[in-house]
Amino acid sequence: KIKILIDTDPGYDDAAAIIAAAFSSKLDLLGLTTVFGNTSLDIVNRNAASMIEYFNLDISYAFGEKEPLNGKNTATEVSEKDVFGLPECETKEDKRGAVEFLKDKLEGESGLVTLVTLGPLTNISKLLKTHPGCKKKIEKIIMMGGALNTGNITSAAEFNIYCDPEAAKDVFGSGIEIVMAGLDVTRETRLYGHDLEKLSGFGDKQRKLVEIIKDCSAKYSLKPEKGIPVHDVCTIMYLLEPEIFGTEKYNVDVETRGEITRGMTLADRRPFSNLEKNTTVLTKINIEKFKEVFFGIMAEIQRF
Ligand code: BDR
Ligand code: CA
Repeated sequence: KIKILIDTDPGYDDAAAIIAAAFSSKLDLLGLTTVFGNTSLDIVNRNAASMIEYFNLDISYAFGEKEPLNGKNTATEVSEKDVFGLPECETKEDKRGAVEFLKDKLEGESGLVTLVTLGPLTNISKLLKTHPGCKKKIEKIIMMGGALNTGNITSAAEFNIYCDPEAAKDVFGSGIEIVMAGLDVTRETRLYGHDLEKLSGFGDKQRKLVEIIKDCSAKYSLKPEKGIPVHDVCTIMYLLEPEIFGTEKYNVDVETRGEITRGMTLADRRPFSNLEKNTTVLTKINIEKFKEVFFGIMAEIQRF
């Protein structure tokens, strides 16, 4: 089994990714940490705790950063729709907090661990700065974030990177191998009405996930008729079946000062570039295969 840790800002697509990871027989989910992003840290934490409880996931978790490194959150918009419609529960977070939790989890393993990031990279930047020794325990970072071409929150920047460009820059510059599942592939992962019906048909819990996907994506005016992208799921699908994706290797850096390009991931695509190719960028996706693998896990979930 591949050992993973997930850092996340749930989020309807984070929920889908976490459930896929938790129920995949090929992955060993060692723990989960939260970070502000899709919504406030408070709601993100309640969402994480309530979904772990409702879906019976046996995962320990810790709460992380509530704002970016520079203290100026210009991206998060909080709305009622961000709250998963799940029974409220007492949160059972690990009191060490995300950074110490991640450090201890990494150090507690004899082998290497893959870090999967589904939100802004604030916790990870802090981890790498506070405990640089952890780097040698991280096999690679598979991140939902960035874009080779157009962004979403601005024309240049993808949301997760834009939330904390300084943190993202630290991570790309860390020397750790990065796999970037950016908008170039993730925006293709649209689930349409018939996909959501199929998912609902698998059982009660799956139906609840569909409700979360529909209700929370409405914040972004997304509708099943036009397809609802489940961006974060790409990270897990890449881990399970890398051949779903086409990849290209580049040096990727993050723009932190641009007047209109702050948070842009800039891949050096010059053929003669001699910068270190620090990132495997997912550039193509076989969407039929993606859905086959995703629905395969969702259909098999026996514990539901
Ligand atoms: C990313 O931003 C969030 O809204 C999603 O959960 C995903 O991680 C897409 O840009
Ligand atoms: Ca996310």
